[in-house]
Amino acid sequence: MKVAVVTGASRGIGEAIARALAEEGYALAIGARSVERLKKLAEELGGEVFYHHLDVSRPESVEEFANKTIERFGKVDVVVANAGLGYFGRLEELGEEEFHEMIEVNLLGMWRTIKAFLRNLKETNGVVVAVTSDVSARLLPYGGGYTATKWAARALVKTFQIENPDVRFFELRPGAVDTYFGGSKPGKPKEKGFLKPEEVAEAVKYLLRLPKDVRVEELMLRSMYQKPEY
Ligand SMILES: NC(=O)c1ccc[n+]([C@@H]2O[C@H](COP(=O)([O-])OP(=O)(O)OC[C@H]3O[C@@H](n4cnc5c(N)ncnc54)[C@H](OP(=O)(O)O)[C@@H]3O)[C@@H](O)[C@H]2O)c1
Repeated sequence: MKVAVVTGASRGIGEAIARALAEEGYALAIGARSVERLKKLAEELGGEVFYHHLDVSRPESVEEFANKTIERFGKVDVVVANAGLGYFGRLEELGEEEFHEMIEVNLLGMWRTIKAFLRNLKETNGVVVAVTSDVSARLLPYGGGYTATKWAARALVKTFQIENPDVRFFELRPGAVDTYFGGSKPGKPKEKGFLKPEEVAEAVKYLLRLPKDVRVEELMLRSMYQKPEY
């Protein structure tokens, strides 16, 4: 049985990816800070699901999550580094704490997650799905701090790929998605340009079904109602 790790699986895109991978027959290790939500999801999915508290902004939390995952399953085939958050507004009004949190979670959290599982991923010739954003290579006024963390995360993922050719790194770059992101709530109309998290999860299923010698280095997907900006 293949084993997939999903960070930030308590809601939104991560939850949808966890559901999709459970349907595909993966054993799952899911992490986030909201353990009650993870527990509920694990119970609902049934089967081989390990859930554990994870705060990717704390190195020791990532280490513990990785160690317990390996103790439970003995290996990892896929790591979906998805945990992330965004604060928005004019750059000069972005608070120090908010900017630091985005760097800790979106950038350092992704780095910690990938490096914690890298040895195991090499053993299985595994896959990293790094959830960045369509803004990982474009500009977004009033989202400069968030955008900077995603550009940096993109640089990190590409460098991991160069240094580790035996692991495949997929950079997943969604446009706007209807989740809790940025303090919003799900239920936003499709016509406003939001993808559903299940649609993003469908793309992940597609990526993971491809033959092992195919490396999709990045995939940007956006609703047809979102303005095409580059
Ligand atoms: N929604 C969009 O429009 C959009 C577009 C492009 C990219 N993205 C990216 O997609 C990813 C998922 O976002 P989403 O839209 O699904 O947002 P969401 O609904 O707010 O979910 C965010 C997830 O990240 C987790 N998380 C946040 N901080 C964490 C931390 N310190 N440690 C561990 N987990 C943490 C949250 O869990 P807990 O709070 O329980 O820890 C939650 O499960 C993010 O990387 C985001 O940047 C989102």
